Amino acid sequence: MISTASGLQQQHVLTQRNHHHLGAPAAVKPGFLARTRGGGAPGRGRAPNAAAAAAAVTSSPSSPPSVPGVPGNVPVVSAVEPLFRPLSLGPGLDLAHRLVLAPLTRCRAGPGDTPAPSAALYYGERAAAPGTLLISEASPISPQARGYPGTPGLWTAEQVEAWRPVVRAVKDAGSVFCAQLWHVGRASCDLYQPGGGPPVSASAIAIPPPWTLYGPGGEGPFPYPTPRPLAADEIDGIVQDFVTAAKNAVAAGFDMVEVHAANGYLLAQFLSDGSNARKGDAYSGASPASRARFLLRVVQAVADALGSAGRVGVRLSPFNEFLACVESRPLATYGHAVSELLKIRAEGDASGAALAYLHFVEPRIDATFEPRDTDLTLAPYTAMARAAGVAVITAGGWEPGPAAEAVASGDVDLVCVGREWIGSPDLPKRWALGLRGNKGDRAMYYSGGEEGYTTYACLSPEEEGAAIEAAVAARRG
Ligand code: PHB
Repeated sequence: MISTASGLQQQHVLTQRNHHHLGAPAAVKPGFLARTRGGGAPGRGRAPNAAAAAAAVTSSPSSPPSVPGVPGNVPVVSAVEPLFRPLSLGPGLDLAHRLVLAPLTRCRAGPGDTPAPSAALYYGERAAAPGTLLISEASPISPQARGYPGTPGLWTAEQVEAWRPVVRAVKDAGSVFCAQLWHVGRASCDLYQPGGGPPVSASAIAIPPPWTLYGPGGEGPFPYPTPRPLAADEIDGIVQDFVTAAKNAVAAGFDMVEVHAANGYLLAQFLSDGSNARKGDAYSGASPASRARFLLRVVQAVADALGSAGRVGVRLSPFNEFLACVESRPLATYGHAVSELLKIRAEGDASGAALAYLHFVEPRIDATFEPRDTDLTLAPYTAMARAAGVAVITAGGWEPGPAAEAVASGDVDLVCVGREWIGSPDLPKRWALGLRGNKGDRAMYYSGGEEGYTTYACLSPEEEGAAIEAAVAARRG
């Protein structure tokens, strides 16, 4: 709908986005942006690729990396130099720097839940610094998986065809594109569900007010309905839907996929004891092991389907309470999930973790996706990933200086940026030159149409020239 949406629909969509963030009006927007802490030893990657990864790393302080996308030998400003060390996530997944485009819902999909043609320009201009990792907007794996207007899917041949030119634009720029695979579970309503029934979840526990949702045509706002608990054989079917969507992503040209198990969506609904009160089956609410089973099955099945190339990442949010999905003992539950995820080996490949990375939402990101002060930390999980040789991405409110420190410290490997990349397609170049991006117009984040999507400017030649001169002068000291 969105690219042809009426003004009224656009307004509805926008209202929705604000609304489902617990009501704080225009100052609040949904959720993805990114901020984080973390770091990451240069060259850290999957164990089997360690040699390749190490070979890819050039971190000699005497030869600072050059600015991404700028021809010639322009040095990266020293405060952010750690962000511009290369990293390999596996064969064919060579990254030139540590900034990752966060998965960002943009509500621009067209008829048949296909990505809008202009998504090629939107993603392509954000891929312009060669060796950038981009994670796609959350993409439903089936009709049942949908819960927001204008989200492009990965379950039909038509969708695969529509994704191809979008992916091609990223590949032509020399960058790496990861498709985020999504099932919203109870964060949906009859208007999205095939057959018009209730949405599905672990248990019949609704997302409570004041959370609300809008329908595919901007109808609403509605309270979230009480979901229908999935039967065990339906869970088998959804595992298969993830596999099909992963294969479709590869068929469309994506380099890798990310299983979305964060932010209160289906896999998080099974993980969390606040939303999983099942009894008497293998996915029951009784223990972290059974609550994590669905997620682990999905990741194993997707890893087996994609083979041994390490093309699977997983997104988790141990602390986030978005959509009222609350886990009372995050360390026990997510500690178990992370430890088991790290043990997954793709079929026929016993040599190392199947995961290309683990992607965490920072604990400072609250239920409205705004930063808060907190003592909570991802450290126990990132330490496990480090010990297993699996890369870590974190997301949530990162600024250049702290992001560079986090990477330099080795806590994380890659740092997501969201809002600031929406408003500045050439974000890596800006950060490398010591400049900042702009966060774009919030009113356009979910509005549909080109405005606020493909209308943001890159640095002008004059601005770039001045920044280069300043960077070179600063480097000379
Ligand atoms: C959203 O569309 O609001 C949304 C999607 C994916 C997330 C979080 C929020 O992980």
